[in-house]
Amino acid sequence: MPRGAPPRYKRFMSNMSNRYSRRYFVGASAAGAALTARAQTSPSMPRAGVIGVGIRGAHLLKTVLQTDMARVAAVCDNHEGRLKAGLDEAARDKPTGYNDYRRLLDDKSIDAVFIATPCYLHKEMAVNAVEAGKHVYCEKPVAITPAECNEVARAARSSKKVFQVGHQLRASKVYQATLDKIHSGFPGKLLLIKAQRQHESRSVRVAPGKEWFYDRNKSGDIIIENAVHEIDVFNWINGAHPLKACGMGGCNLFQNQPPGRSVTDHYIIVWEYPNGVHVTYTQADYTHNAVGGGRWEHAHFSKMSVDVTNGKFYEPGNQEPVYEVKIDGKDELDAQAVRSFFDCIRNDKKPVADVEVARMAVLTALLGRKAFYEGRTVSWEELGA
Ligand SMILES: NC(=O)c1ccc[n+]([C@@H]2O[C@H](COP(=O)([O-])OP(=O)(O)OC[C@H]3O[C@@H](n4cnc5c(N)ncnc54)[C@H](O)[C@@H]3O)[C@@H](O)[C@H]2O)c1
Repeated sequence: MPRGAPPRYKRFMSNMSNRYSRRYFVGASAAGAALTARAQTSPSMPRAGVIGVGIRGAHLLKTVLQTDMARVAAVCDNHEGRLKAGLDEAARDKPTGYNDYRRLLDDKSIDAVFIATPCYLHKEMAVNAVEAGKHVYCEKPVAITPAECNEVARAARSSKKVFQVGHQLRASKVYQATLDKIHSGFPGKLLLIKAQRQHESRSVRVAPGKEWFYDRNKSGDIIIENAVHEIDVFNWINGAHPLKACGMGGCNLFQNQPPGRSVTDHYIIVWEYPNGVHVTYTQADYTHNAVGGGRWEHAHFSKMSVDVTNGKFYEPGNQEPVYEVKIDGKDELDAQAVRSFFDCIRNDKKPVADVEVARMAVLTALLGRKAFYEGRTVSWEELGA
């Protein structure tokens, strides 16, 4: 696919293909096993920088170290304690510490950056990272408004480097095998998807520095910050973006918790996709796990129903699955996503969770959010994307 191709959604759903014309590894072996066997400080490994080492960034940093596919050459956080903790964690690779991410981007020896800062900073950091010539692994949501999403997508498309977003469900062996089976036509014609993300807390505890999450202008609200993972799965199953959405929602338990809170604590949305497919989705922060809690996606087809979350396919009248996805080994989503990022760099591949997938997930979430904020049916065109 040409890099400047118009963002037709079906193209976004294509599997990995060779896309990057310039090989990153000059003379490096393409064999993952060979790379893994190298000394951990091999100079031919990419030098990675992690920007934002809070909860997610610290986890990504550890994951990068565990892959042995890159060196953590730089760590950046504007919080002194987290920066120190990140530098300590990556001591094996002797990283340089930065409190200003732009100085990290100035460092020409850094090949790839992980961006795990609050959502409202992703657009600026991602665009600057692309412009600095880095491969980018940006946490989801890739951005929080249509204009920002378009800006990041434009920058990523104009770059010859890898741009991956933290939609690690796309790296799941179970989801990949389940979606392949669905797209083969095995369960029949897609009719309906029901899904949810429900937590069971009855109080709000704000981790230090996590206030941004409760400000809708900084996180995008819980639908953008949390739910884009499964919203992306709806698009993935459909092979299309929705046409319209309606819904309701609000904040009926955690009002003003913490003080000044502007994000919701529950909502229910229906999206309409092409061919009359409907997706109903609920997110709520206060439902007991024993009473319908948890996160799952169920897809109903003309011949069978599929529990997408665990890859089980059921025919009517039979309590046992007619087909069940089997995978080799564990399904370690984050490790697989990070390894896949380095593999894409090494082998000039397009990541499965690329900028278009991520942009569409945010736009779909924004469609739902607009519908329940405004209490009306909203069309895709109204997003102005
Ligand atoms: N893929 C996933 O499953 C997943 C899981 C959790 C979080 N996330 C995403 O990761 C991102 C971070 O979430 P989190 O929970 O780690 O948040 P967090 O608040 O714990 O961490 C953010 C970090 O960024 C730092 N930071 C803020 N401004 C900065 C700046 N200008 N320069 C450098 N550092 C700065 C903060 O000091 C903090 O350490 C969010 O976008 C979130 O949606 C993704």
